[in-house]
Amino acid sequence: MKKILLLGSGELGKEFVIAAQRLGQTVVACDKYAGAPAMQVADAFEVFDMLDGDALAAAVAKHRPDIIVPEIEAIRTERLYDFERAGVQVAPSARAVNFTMNRKAIRDLAAKELGLKTARYFYATSLEELQQAAAKIGFPCVVKPLMSSSGKGQSLVKAPEELEHAWQYGCEGSRGDIRELIVEEFIRFDSEITLLTVTQKNGPTLFCPPIGHVQKGGDYRESFQSPHVAPEHLAEAQRMAAAVTEALTGAGLWGVEFFLSHDNGVYFSELSPRPHDTGMVTLAGTQNLNEFELHLRAVLGIPIPAVTFERLGASAVILSPVATQTPHYEGVGEAVAEDPRTDIRIFGKPVARVNRRMGVVVGYEPLGSDLDALRDRVKAAAAKVKVTE
Ligand SMILES: Nc1ncnc2c1ncn2[C@@H]1O[C@H](COP(=O)(O)OP(=O)(O)OP(=O)(O)O)[C@@H](O)[C@H]1O
Ligand SMILES: [Mg+2]
Repeated sequence: MKKILLLGSGELGKEFVIAAQRLGQTVVACDKYAGAPAMQVADAFEVFDMLDGDALAAAVAKHRPDIIVPEIEAIRTERLYDFERAGVQVAPSARAVNFTMNRKAIRDLAAKELGLKTARYFYATSLEELQQAAAKIGFPCVVKPLMSSSGKGQSLVKAPEELEHAWQYGCEGSRGDIRELIVEEFIRFDSEITLLTVTQKNGPTLFCPPIGHVQKGGDYRESFQSPHVAPEHLAEAQRMAAAVTEALTGAGLWGVEFFLSHDNGVYFSELSPRPHDTGMVTLAGTQNLNEFELHLRAVLGIPIPAVTFERLGASAVILSPVATQTPHYEGVGEAVAEDPRTDIRIFGKPVARVNRRMGVVVGYEPLGSDLDALRDRVKAAAAKVKVTE
């Protein structure tokens, strides 16, 4: 039995802990606020700012975990190298977690070292540099902080006069105080997918069926498994996912994001070295093992002979329209009443903020069914749930 220190205790962490509990592991869930979703199901918890390297080291010294499993990006990831050197396993590896917390490190690795196709991009450390870079890329372009998540600080810039606002907004949306942004070519993709990829300690790299998703404001609204993807595009995405996960090293499940274009093929976008929010669709039983069970098995070194595709699935998020310290949920019964293949997860976040993700509805149908109808059904069910004060 292993002791796992989970860094980040949101809804993805909660499902990971449930998977770990089912295999008899011990989990200490960490986050910067008490009562976080994963803490509710863990063996123990710690509340501290994980960007504080000393606080992180203190938690490691106190609990002496066998494995550190990061669930979010906002972690003092440089310290993970020290823990790894001291013999603590970091999932998937300190290098993977450190590289992916900063868009610069991962983008340069993917585009320059591995030669993967990405949107054209430049970095900018001032408004002037941003203007020069945008002029080279053309409009529209996408401006993002180097460190942020869930679309924070991101803007689609349609004309030069919007760059000043994009610069300000990007700097404000940056984690920490780095004043450097990335500006990317806007890809007119036909669809985007997450390819959940599993690297194993003693076994081949496995790919889950691709997950299609729809984002609004850089945040995921619905996901579905599996949309039709041209076989040559899927093969190309798998090749890229294998290359980038191999370069980052380690064992675990990764969410690798791609843009797909009929005309221009497959673009690598970014990746998370851990379960992906769009992968919550696997909670609908789409696969033999959901993404959290896959991550756990890979991290523990328990063999995964194969990932099998069992049924079509869809997920739709429940966002809070209000800010409140006492969130209530109306319409849960109505949401699941109509269809026996619809289920819901309420994450149990202690506090709601406007547009904070508070739950998700998942549903499934047999393979070969109408995926669009399933998506509509799951979205309609999610729309019945209202977060109130
Ligand atoms: N260059 C681009 N061209 C077109 N659309 C883009 C581009 N970059 C980002 N987007 C859109 O914005 C969404 C969010 O961007 P991205 O995945 O880079 O950041 P993020 O999701 O905020 O980061 P994280 O996944 O770490 O939370 C993408 O899924 C895509 O829909
Ligand atoms: Mg993303």
